[in-house]
Amino acid sequence: MTRVLVTGAAGFIGSHLCEALVQDGCEVRGVDAFTEFYDPASKRRNIAELMPDPAFELVEADVRTAPSGQLLDGIDAVAHLAGEPGVSTSWGPSFERYVDRNVLATQRLLEAALAKGVSRFVYASSSSVYGAETEALRARGEPRPASPYGVSKLAAEALVGAYAYSYGLPGVSLRYFSVYGPRQRPDMAAHRFIEALLDGRPLQLFGDGSQTRDFTFVGDVVRATSRALFADLPPAAVLDIACGRPTSVATLIEELRSIVDVDDPSLETRQERPGDVPRTAGRIDAARQHLDWSPTVGLRAGLRQQVAWHAGVRDSQPISGLAGGATDPHQAVRR
Ligand SMILES: NC(=O)c1ccc[n+]([C@@H]2O[C@H](COP(=O)([O-])OP(=O)(O)OC[C@H]3O[C@@H](n4cnc5c(N)ncnc54)[C@H](O)[C@@H]3O)[C@@H](O)[C@H]2O)c1
Repeated sequence: MTRVLVTGAAGFIGSHLCEALVQDGCEVRGVDAFTEFYDPASKRRNIAELMPDPAFELVEADVRTAPSGQLLDGIDAVAHLAGEPGVSTSWGPSFERYVDRNVLATQRLLEAALAKGVSRFVYASSSSVYGAETEALRARGEPRPASPYGVSKLAAEALVGAYAYSYGLPGVSLRYFSVYGPRQRPDMAAHRFIEALLDGRPLQLFGDGSQTRDFTFVGDVVRATSRALFADLPPAAVLDIACGRPTSVATLIEELRSIVDVDDPSLETRQERPGDVPRTAGRIDAARQHLDWSPTVGLRAGLRQQVAWHAGVRDSQPISGLAGGATDPHQAVRR
């Protein structure tokens, strides 16, 4: 039986990944520090059903400081999803937290994985490494992040590459694109829009809605990540994990409006936030080829699942708001 270490196990994507791996017959050690970026209670809810499963073990620890020998003891492969997310919150003094949780944490885990001799190290990278791509950059596939968050994710990706090239560590980086679905983080667009629609509040829109994102359903991201743990891959592969159908934020709002069945929601338009880019678009041919994977869930079907999840959470208990770490210290500042 394969034993997998999943970091960030109680988070949005990590909790779904743990469930899928257990269902596939793996033993999973999940580690999470329950950071304050958003309400840790909602992270506990994410893994509540998994907790009694004998194939799942939770270690409440920070990957930067936990004894790495113990963390990796008996582990065959690592999926490293722990990290500090968020583009707009990564400016100013907060960047130190991003360096800590995204770069240093990854380096420490890579050292431990190398010492242990794991069969695979999968790193959860981000479309934010690309920044605002021009056609020329895009043709060369050259990343140029537009935010400190993107810089921290690219640095961690580069570390995965360095350990692969210099020591042969079997690492792969997956660049996730705007993941949505049940348990989505409360700072993300679909989550904020659905909550506002259900409350009858105005929707807060940054920019004019014409910006496009390659929204990708969490189940598809989890399937790609599971495949990456076991597939035969070129050394230090870097793969886009996206739906392959960039969609405008205005269309996202329209889909949600019709699913929640609100006739004419009011919008509160705000300036774009520093680090937001006009367009993201994944190139998924490499993931298709190397992971034998394709996205299967279209936007409307995936959003329906997310709306149903929000309704279910409301039925059981009220959703609490963002914790301090997710407020944007530079919201009013243009850079
Ligand atoms: N959600 C997206 O659209 C998206 C897109 C691109 C990349 N990613 C990346 O995917 C990963 C998971 O994202 P998510 O949306 O599920 O975020 P999330 O915040 O829900 O999950 C991350 C989890 O990691 C934990 N964590 C953070 N630092 C830790 C540390 N040092 N030690 C142990 N645990 C720690 C947090 O408590 C949290 O539960 C992140 O690395 C993120 O950068 C996400």
